[in-house]
Amino acid sequence: MLKLNAVSSGYGDVTILKEIDLDVGGEVFAVLGSNGAGKSTLMKAVAGLLRSQGGTISFEGRDVTRTAPNKLAEMGLAIVPQEGNIFPDLTVRENLSLGALVGTRPRKARMDEVFDLFPDLVPRIDQKAGSLSGGEAQMVAVGRALVQEPRLLLLDEPTTGLSPKYASSLFRKIREIHEQRRIGILLAEQNAVKALEIADRVLVLSLGAIFLNEPAKGIDFDRVRAGYHI
Ligand SMILES: Nc1ncnc2c1ncn2[C@@H]1O[C@H](COP(=O)(O)OP(=O)(O)OP(=O)(O)O)[C@@H](O)[C@H]1O
Ligand SMILES: [Mg+2]
Repeated sequence: MLKLNAVSSGYGDVTILKEIDLDVGGEVFAVLGSNGAGKSTLMKAVAGLLRSQGGTISFEGRDVTRTAPNKLAEMGLAIVPQEGNIFPDLTVRENLSLGALVGTRPRKARMDEVFDLFPDLVPRIDQKAGSLSGGEAQMVAVGRALVQEPRLLLLDEPTTGLSPKYASSLFRKIREIHEQRRIGILLAEQNAVKALEIADRVLVLSLGAIFLNEPAKGIDFDRVRAGYHI
């Protein structure tokens, strides 16, 4: 579904990601690693928000190395960035409507599906997104990506700042979304324990390089942890 071949990326002249090879299928693929390991840089590079400094990226067999983010969205790739993922001055409904500009099925049906998935948003539909709680705002951000009907959903630390209860619930929802919609999910996450509960495959990034890339089932947790201590 998504293939990276020797992708390097970073900011200006600085290279953060170093020759990353990756093959993501229709699975829940967790990208782990400590602060600054390069998780967000990888997500941004895949979503076309950062220019690759080298290598190639393909999505569903098409070369998208230089494809613009809006075009990638139309092709079926949605991202919930780590920061700035909602429009605070717009209402919940307006935020979702913006996402619904991409996609083909009737807009109302797609928005109703988000409210079915996140019923807590129903009473807040006309509330400004900037006045929501952290957990509610994350639901809007994920919902905005989902109304685009993506085939691959990129989630960058969606549970940051959430209480354990909200975080666990969102993790469960992420797995549910994957199973019900049969879409691939690339999940950048700090919390290895939680991510391993829902992931099919695990990548640990360390200093912008791949430390480990293995199926989640039966993974040696000490090795995962070792990737955080380099
Ligand atoms: N806009 C930027 N300009 C320059 N350097 C940046 C920029 N954004 C990130 N970096 C640097 O790139 C490196 C990787 O950052 P990145 O945001 O990808 O890490 P991360 O794994 O997502 O960390 P976290 O878990 O804290 O979100 C860090 O050293 C960071 O300082
Ligand atoms: Mg990050």
